[in-house]
Amino acid sequence: MNIVVIGTGYVGLVSGTCFAEFGFNVTCVDKIAEKITKLQQGIVPIYEPALDDMVKRNIADGRLSFSCDLKDALKNSDVVFIAVGTPTKKDDGCADLQYVYASAKEIALSLDDRYRLIVVKSTVPVGTGRKVAQIIKVNNEKANFDMASNPEFLREGSAIEDFMYPDRVVIGTDTEKAQKIMAKLYEPLSKDNVPLLFTEIETSELIKYTANAFLAMKITFINEISDLCEKCGANIRDVAKGIGLDSRIGSKFLQAGPGYGGSCFPKDTLALIQIGKEYSSPIRSIETVVSINEKRKKDMAYRIIDALGGSVEGKDIAVLGVTFKPNTDDMREAPALDILPILTKAGAKLKAYDPKGMDEAAKLLKDIEWTASSSEALKDADALVILTEWEEFYKITPTDLKKLMKGKTIIDLRNVMDLKAMKDEGFTYSCIGC
Ligand code: UGA
Repeated sequence: MNIVVIGTGYVGLVSGTCFAEFGFNVTCVDKIAEKITKLQQGIVPIYEPALDDMVKRNIADGRLSFSCDLKDALKNSDVVFIAVGTPTKKDDGCADLQYVYASAKEIALSLDDRYRLIVVKSTVPVGTGRKVAQIIKVNNEKANFDMASNPEFLREGSAIEDFMYPDRVVIGTDTEKAQKIMAKLYEPLSKDNVPLLFTEIETSELIKYTANAFLAMKITFINEISDLCEKCGANIRDVAKGIGLDSRIGSKFLQAGPGYGGSCFPKDTLALIQIGKEYSSPIRSIETVVSINEKRKKDMAYRIIDALGGSVEGKDIAVLGVTFKPNTDDMREAPALDILPILTKAGAKLKAYDPKGMDEAAKLLKDIEWTASSSEALKDADALVILTEWEEFYKITPTDLKKLMKGKTIIDLRNVMDLKAMKDEGFTYSCIGC
């Protein structure tokens, strides 16, 4: 089976590469020529563990190729995935579908009358699959195709693992033929007992938003409970453990922190709110989640200022981690983007280090000195702020901190350090929910 994937962002590139790994022939198409040239040489433009090797191996084995020429790529295709971005529209929070619709039109204008399955993998509002089908029909009356929806649930930083070992695969289709093709594509997973959930196209589209909104709500809930813990003397880690052991709740996504970020939860919660409004069926819980999360990210800056006695004017602050989560270089909607400008505006002198995100962060954050290591950021600092829980930060000991820092104030927004050890060593240690 020959697969074309349109869009080489996280979802497109990871899905295309993993389908090639399954043994299919895959061509990934993108309009950005520079990106395609690099990918043809096996250079992956994003940081994602294990992706480089998998891309290189599948190129070498002749199953994976990259191109800017959609028309040419479509010639031998059987299945076409649309995996382009659906960013938030600035004016109303809706998903911007211009790239999805432009892809649909381009597909239509390139198709002959041989049967194709067109699959939307991008996260799209309910009804988009039908609209895509309509665009294809209007632009090419001979087009012979079925539509499918197949949302992706992979996380940045563990994308390959999430694609290869998912909890489930969701597939929306209208016809038996489309179902059979999708079942064949995912056979390597269903053979290993991964459930394939077949639904209507609309249901499949809504499952994706519902999943992301639910997870964002879970995080927001535990964040609010962590605030309560701080006031009433409870410990959020144990509260999370105590509720997470109830299988009806589950232990994942209960890590309290500075607020969720990234390219998905902020965008998809806003889009779900808009979908609810469009159908006069408001999702008030998620409206509340969005406003709590927005406020929380900014509040974290004031928490840092308070921990330093009400003023950060002239204070040297070491910042460890700036990406929205570890194992990625992605800065989209990272809490750092809300927190750090408030600190610099209040007169703090920031030295920051992140293992992978500094190039991207330097484009978005001004007046920060970027350092080559955590030790360099920590040297002579009055305070330490931890914004992202990178693995290497867990290895920093109180002794290291004592040696390097001038001051003894730690604000750990990811609960990386050990509370007791920090207190025993005489640090003024502020963490989340304890
Ligand atoms: C999220 C979903 O988890 C994926 O299933 C989905 O496919 C993806 O969006 C998408 O729609 O493409 P991602 O944004 O890569 O994945 O990252 P997550 O690991 O979900 O983290 C999102 C944010 O929540 C991060 O800022 C993270 O720090 C925060 N988070 C996560 C917490 O604060 N606490 C937690 O317990 C978990």
